[in-house]
Order: sequence, then C-alpha cells, then structure tokens
Amino acid sequence: MSTLSTESGLPIYQDAARYDAEHWWKTDDLTFWEGLAGEYGPRVLELAAGTGRLALPILKSGTTYTGLEISQAFLKHAREKLALFGQRACLVQGDIRDFHLDETFDLILIGFNAFLHLLTEEEALAALACIREHCHEGTRLVIDIFVPDPLFLYRPEGQRVPAKVYTDPQTGSMVNVEETNLYDPDTELNHLRWYYSTDEKKDFLVIDFTLRMYFPDTMDRLLHDAGFRVVDKWGKYDQTPLSEESELQIYVAQAGG
Ligand SMILES: C[S@@+](CC[C@H](N)C(=O)[O-])C[C@H]1O[C@@H](n2cnc3c(N)ncnc32)[C@H](O)[C@@H]1O
Repeated sequence: MSTLSTESGLPIYQDAARYDAEHWWKTDDLTFWEGLAGEYGPRVLELAAGTGRLALPILKSGTTYTGLEISQAFLKHAREKLALFGQRACLVQGDIRDFHLDETFDLILIGFNAFLHLLTEEEALAALACIREHCHEGTRLVIDIFVPDPLFLYRPEGQRVPAKVYTDPQTGSMVNVEETNLYDPDTELNHLRWYYSTDEKKDFLVIDFTLRMYFPDTMDRLLHDAGFRVVDKWGKYDQTPLSEESELQIYVAQAGG
C-alpha cells in the first residue's frame, strides 16, 4: 500500500514539473470546471489541488480560489503558477481527511480521481465530514472519478500496459510509462506500479501507488451516510447523465440528506 506522509504526501506526487509534463494530455476537464465555477461560485475550494492544473481555468471564470493540497512540492509549484492572481488565489497545506478552514464555500470540488486516494470508507467518510463543515445550504460538492472497468482491474498479473508518453521538460527525452496493477476485490484496492523508461534507460523510475476503486453504488451510499443528497450524476464532462456506458462518474451533491 502507498505510504502517505502528512508532511509531504505520496511518492508519486513529489515532482511537480514531471506531474505537469506527464499529464499534458489531460485537458478534457478544463472548460467543465471553468463552467461550474462560473455557475456555482464565486467562492471555490479545490481539495487535493495538485500543481494548480484546475486552479487556472477556475480562476479564469472570475471566482476566488482556495486549494488544499498535501504535497509541499506541489504547493510550491502551484503558488508560483498562481502568484499573478494575488488575493484571489490561496493555497493551503492540508490533508483532505482532516481539515478545518473555518469558512464556507459555494463550490467544493475534488477533481481528476483524487477521491480515489481515500483508501477506505472510513477515510472517505472522514473527508466528507470535513467537507460538510465547509458547506452552507447552497454549496455544491462535485466529485470526479472514473468508473472502475473490469478489463482494467483484472488484467493478467504483471502484464505491462502502455500508460502514457511525455517529453521530459529537462532533458527533452521522450519518456514511456508502462503500468501493472494488482486488484484486491476484498478491499477494492488497486495496487499500481508505473515504470518510466527512455530509449537510453529502461525503468529509470518505478513508482508504486494504490487507488481505492469506488463503484457508483458505494459513492451513493457514502454521500448519503455523510449527510449529502446527490442532485446530479454525470458520466461525461458534457453533463450527460451517468449510464452503464459511462467511463466517468461525476457527482454533484448538496448538504442535507
Ligand atoms: C491526481 S492528482 C490531482 C491533482 C489536481 N486536482 C489535478 O486535477 O491535476 C491527486 C492529488 O491529490 C493529492 N492528495 C492525495 N492524498 C491527499 C490527501 N490526503 N490530502 C490532500 N491532498 C492529497 C496529491 O498530492 C495530488 O496532488
């Protein structure tokens, strides 16, 4: 299981420049969040805010923005990116399972699968209880995670699958990332390993991490038990309703069961 230090977070989230470089392709959610911030803002809290990838489109919509993030390295990088927004952008070091900012927000979001770092239902409920503290009557909580796909969960053990390709910002080399996974249906934990290689050096970096696979029925139950009612459930960033074919599960919830 991944080791998460409350000082600095998970090993996969220590190199902010690499994170940005390896997620160059993740752009399909940017206008979605910009639109939601404009609609549900103006006071926006992003949990597990990372390197500020989503902060930029959110701030573009004219809102104020608070980002909570555990990784000091990512926070430093995000602070540099967001400096031009002055008082409108604020970044706080914290753990989504135990945070108390003593204010409420109009929109609270957890984007790009960050909810899957809550490895047990206890952790998810602890995070949702903290989120409730930061809600007023009209607050929208929006969670974006993927729907677990059996073809992904039950790949042959040890089979390396191409995961992504990116250009190393420092060396200019092309980096190939392969992935193996081992899913435990009892705990619903998916243990992943990423292998980073260039033409010159195979496996120059190998990183292990674990994601909890949350199925839609579990999300419904957790949100309900935490005192939220689900007001929308989408399966795509274009707000198509969640269906059996959906690859994403996006929940819009409000406090009050
Ligand atoms: C997949 S990244 C998403 C980052 C950003 N929201 C984005 O869309 O690019 C997951 C983020 O969750 C953060 N994270 C993981 N566990 C956390 C926790 N318990 N508290 C706060 N942040 C956490 C990681 O450090 C990482 O920045």
